[in-house]
Amino acid sequence: MPTIAIYPGSFDPITNGHVDIIQRSLKLFDRVIVAVTQNISKHPFLPVAERILLLSRITEGMEQVRVTSFTGLLVNFARRLEAQVVIRGLRAVSDFEFELQMALTNRNIDPELETVFLMPSGRFIFLSSGLVRELWQLGGPFEKYVPEVVADHLRRMPRVVEGNDPG
Ligand code: PNS
Repeated sequence: MPTIAIYPGSFDPITNGHVDIIQRSLKLFDRVIVAVTQNISKHPFLPVAERILLLSRITEGMEQVRVTSFTGLLVNFARRLEAQVVIRGLRAVSDFEFELQMALTNRNIDPELETVFLMPSGRFIFLSSGLVRELWQLGGPFEKYVPEVVADHLRRMPRVVEGNDPG
């Protein structure tokens, strides 16, 4: 039976850290479903459709990967897809509490679904979508933290510049 893993997240936007986790997961699972959803506790930056488009372009050529989106509970989505595993990236201790809570809640609802944590390369340990959003918004050097297609997409997006900030 093939091992099917779901890598769920906001991916808002996708960073080099996310790509690193996808690449690591390909060594472990037969199929990896990268699943975009709106985290209800976060304010959206890019529309879900744009995140899917960017992820699809980034994972082009990765035969085991499928990109999709879902709404509702992750455990229900995993059941529908007959996935056995949820992949989550773990960077620092600060991630741990939320991740533990989420993994154990999901296990409580569906004891068959395992969460596997993968650590990104040390180069990405500090990196988050939030950091990229902030750099982008403030005119900082966000490009080196995201794949080129994402950098290109963000460069084309109009920024709301407050006050006299020239840019
Ligand atoms: O990239 P994020 O925002 O850290 O991802 C969090 C996400 C989207 C994976 C999580 O919020 C989630 O699974 N949402 C789906 C709804 C759900 O199942 N909630 C209960 C999990 S405890």
